[in-house]
Amino acid sequence: MAEPVLIAQLTDTHVVAWGTDTPLHVDNNQRAASAVARLNAEEPAPAAVVMTGDLVNDARPDEYAALAELLAPLGADVLPLPGNHDDRALVRRTFADFDWSDTGHLSWVRVVDGVRIVGLDSTRPGHPGAEFDDERAEWLGAALAAPHEGATILAMHHPPFITGIEWMDRAGFIGLGTFAEIVGASRVDRIICGHMHRPIGSSVGGVAAQVAMSTVQHVALDLAPSATASLVHDPVGYQLHRVVGTEVVTHSRYIETGQEPFVPDWAIDDYA
Ligand SMILES: [Fe+2]
Ligand SMILES: [Fe+2]
Repeated sequence: MAEPVLIAQLTDTHVVAWGTDTPLHVDNNQRAASAVARLNAEEPAPAAVVMTGDLVNDARPDEYAALAELLAPLGADVLPLPGNHDDRALVRRTFADFDWSDTGHLSWVRVVDGVRIVGLDSTRPGHPGAEFDDERAEWLGAALAAPHEGATILAMHHPPFITGIEWMDRAGFIGLGTFAEIVGASRVDRIICGHMHRPIGSSVGGVAAQVAMSTVQHVALDLAPSATASLVHDPVGYQLHRVVGTEVVTHSRYIETGQEPFVPDWAIDDYA
């Protein structure tokens, strides 16, 4: 049996410039620092940390400088993707050692301890919604057609499904049908996303697709068709994808709960 490989997913950190006067609901940078510290304490340690976009809040150079500072203590390699709050050129510059390809979009493929991670740039520059154009369709088809033994995780910022939280869905996903066709015809074991700031699961093209929670405030859960934009302070953290062979099992690590594991007074072993 193959050894488990842990791939962490940190998303929607929305880092801001130090000392910013941007009105925020939580201390975004402190949350990112807290997540980095907890990731470093993970045992076993994750083999890599995929960041599924909205790395910073407002695509400003001083925000990316703060992001680089906050990520500097992280023990694992970062695999970064842009979100709709990011700027491609600044992401490229911030992660200058990442060995980006020379495509306009910031998509990449990395194999980490036998797990293939395909990072797809789903952004539509200047727009909050997603885009999967012909160039990216060709790129993804080729990336997924390359032979690989073991699991393939497809990471992207925007979820490739209608979530039901309408004010967020409204921004749309250009090329979603083509995306579903390509994924459905390929070997993908899990699709991991961000953007919604709250955990959500679905499927696309027959492949399980999910959103991880943000480290800042969540989009409120309101499934009414008339729902207006609203946020909520739900528990924050990151996710750990435990990969064995081609099986991907996802766990949520909540941070800043003020809670520690404890052994109950009753015989818990009887239930294990
Ligand atoms: Fe976000
Ligand atoms: Fe987003």
